[in-house]
Amino acid sequence: MQKLSANHVAIIMDGNGRWAQSRSHSRFYGHIRGAKVAKNIIEHASSIGLKHLTLFAFSTENWFRPVEEVSLLMKLLLKQMERERSNLVKNNIQFHCIGELHRLPPAVQASINKSIEQTKDNTGLVLTFALSYSGRQDLTAAVRLLAEKIENKELQSQEINEQLLSLALPSSFLPDPDLIIRTSGESRLSNFFLWQAAYSEIYVTPKMWPEFTLNDFNSAINYYQSRERRFGRTSHQVHERLDSSALPNN
Ligand code: FPP
Repeated sequence: MQKLSANHVAIIMDGNGRWAQSRSHSRFYGHIRGAKVAKNIIEHASSIGLKHLTLFAFSTENWFRPVEEVSLLMKLLLKQMERERSNLVKNNIQFHCIGELHRLPPAVQASINKSIEQTKDNTGLVLTFALSYSGRQDLTAAVRLLAEKIENKELQSQEINEQLLSLALPSSFLPDPDLIIRTSGESRLSNFFLWQAAYSEIYVTPKMWPEFTLNDFNSAINYYQSRERRFGRTSHQVHERLDSSALPNN
């Protein structure tokens, strides 16, 4: 693979249930396999020097699933968190979570906090789990924070701009994702990173998450490297900027 230019890759890990059911397994078996794939992708991303990896592991809408499935998912999350903490530390991975974490079972919250604390000084991959997360909820929290600042006379409404709103997001420690990968062939964001995805490249693969491989991840990165990111400019302008920024003293 050529030199990595993606800084932040985010993944919507979809299709665990369908993958399992099409093989006459329980949906939960699909989640167990999905967790193994997540582990492999995290270690791979860390080894190739990616800076940020965000995994959409549980959406606010997922709380509406059958109680047994939610409960098993929480148990799986807790088990993985306990089992993998030492590997996060060993691999120099800094762990974070975004989302309404107070809605998670107390044992899961405690386990997450322990991983965040024990990895806070790590300098390698920044791994973020989006848990009980939705893009709308992220934006709502930002708007509420700005409204409170206005109420407290710390801010005037005319001062609000895109940068202030970005900084008010609970996920503001993350750069916007360069690449969003979605498995299972569905071409939608499903309430993930609504604000941050404005210029993300989106890579959709028909593979279900439990069958997603390191090669598939590399293919997504190669796809990203082949894209021309124009950010609203023309192709000519983009190349002019690249040429001039390559000049010495520029
Ligand atoms: C989407 O498949 C997946 C989820 C809702 C949960 C993702 C969870 C894991 C990969 C396991 C735990 C993760 C970690 C990182 C420990 P789906 O159930 O929506 O599949 P379907 O669309 O086929 O029903």
